[in-house]
Amino acid sequence: MDFQKVIAFATRRGLFQPAFGAYGGLAGFLDYGPVGVKLRRRILEVWRRHYVIDAGCLELDGALIGPEVLFKASGHLGEFDDPLVNCDDCGKQFRADHLIEDGEEMARDKLANALSRTACPNCGAGLSEMTAFNLMFSTKVGAGKGLQGYLRPETAQSIFLAFPWLLRQNRGKLPFAVGQIGRSFRNEISARQGPLRMREFTAMEVEHFFLPDNEPQLSDDLSKVTITLLNSAGKEITCSVGEAHSDGTVNSSLVACHLARAQLFFTDIGVPKNKLRFRQHGSNEMAHYSSDCWDGEIDTSLGWVEVVGVAHRGDYDLSAHGNASSKEFRVAVPGTGKETEIWVPDIGKLGKEFKSDAKIILEAIKDIELQPGILVEVNGDKVELTSEYMSQKTERRSEMVYANVVEPAFGLDRILYCLLESSWKSDGEREWISLPQETSPYDLLVAPLMTKDNLDIKAHEIMKAATKINIDAYYDEAGSIGRRYARADEIGIFYSMTIDHQTLEDGTVTLRERDSKDQNRLSIDDALNKVRR
Ligand code: GLY
Repeated sequence: MDFQKVIAFATRRGLFQPAFGAYGGLAGFLDYGPVGVKLRRRILEVWRRHYVIDAGCLELDGALIGPEVLFKASGHLGEFDDPLVNCDDCGKQFRADHLIEDGEEMARDKLANALSRTACPNCGAGLSEMTAFNLMFSTKVGAGKGLQGYLRPETAQSIFLAFPWLLRQNRGKLPFAVGQIGRSFRNEISARQGPLRMREFTAMEVEHFFLPDNEPQLSDDLSKVTITLLNSAGKEITCSVGEAHSDGTVNSSLVACHLARAQLFFTDIGVPKNKLRFRQHGSNEMAHYSSDCWDGEIDTSLGWVEVVGVAHRGDYDLSAHGNASSKEFRVAVPGTGKETEIWVPDIGKLGKEFKSDAKIILEAIKDIELQPGILVEVNGDKVELTSEYMSQKTERRSEMVYANVVEPAFGLDRILYCLLESSWKSDGEREWISLPQETSPYDLLVAPLMTKDNLDIKAHEIMKAATKINIDAYYDEAGSIGRRYARADEIGIFYSMTIDHQTLEDGTVTLRERDSKDQNRLSIDDALNKVRR
């Protein structure tokens, strides 16, 4: 199976196709069709089982467009860019690090140097100076000049901004994790018409928050998971996650937990173990917020494709939003409560002296640590608040810190592509997708042997009974039974059920398993019970 074959198959059998084809298409955008939507949903269901049900993540579904101030604080406005070069002769634009061997891992100054000796791949002329191209899509919010907004480049920022609220939902306790499935947008310089470099894509992200001195440890189960790692020095090892953590290959215990979880997720959806590895980023490759990052990669005909990034983001995001906004993003460290003298405003005295302006003063000081001598702006003037407008009070206060976070971030579209390649099978007679039942687009083909003698009526009855017990069933009565099996196998339908004249006599059907082609005669109830997940 190769890229062109997957793309042709996906279009022919209704998985996905380039979006907006009637108008010439737009690179980086896809429409998912009937079979593709089912496959996506199945992958997401397994992901939710691993992360929401087993790992107990809280869930969030955040807004897709955010204000500029958010992305200024998160660093995306200043640093979320790719290097761009133009050709002044032919006008083509290129992602600079794709023109140089190993360019993606190079520091920008080295890359610029290498580019100065590189010609335009299209026309051979010299290239312009390298510039930084910000990857966010910008938009205006509201009428008139509008407010500058951006489509979110990662779902993660919604979780960081909602952190104080989510912490309250978790009754103030750390550690806790939040999962989110949703669309993200990146204005890639060189998007392709496939699911590997999309401008609009679906991410499944988890932000796992913990107190800096209390990082979650590996459980026995996760430490036993075997994994292949390629560290930033280029050394590849296959070992248990526990070993990789104790010998220092994976420094953070929570990063190690999430590498193990990702390995279990990928093998559950059907990625063969020998096609999966986790590669550590070099320091030039790391996103602006990361201090360590491992990419889960799947081996394909195009090389290793990144499908998840497990990043240690430290307190980068929470402290950025804490500093840029007026909200408290820190948490109290348990057991550090101490009696502390604090200053509180004397409302009576402020009212007497400042009359209606007292309200403005109280609003201005509501979220800050009050100290005598503080300056407050009132109607354009600075007013000094001396100790006569305050009193002292004893309060029990804890040390406040920013939580740290480890983030596994999965790309659904890439996972789906890689899964199609890695599960593709051919035995000379047929070609088919061989996925576990949980990720097969349908559980069951329901096929009457012929459309006469009431066999089709019986088949429709069975369809109804199947869907009633949540079996995802597909009805097909067109053509020979062999052709129908072949069509069903090709899109990975896990079982096929044939309804024939004997069904009308004794209520039995033939149940065929996709991969082995084994057929069994069973009662309708037994067959449906075998198929139901
Ligand atoms: N949140 C991970 C990423 O942006 O790739």
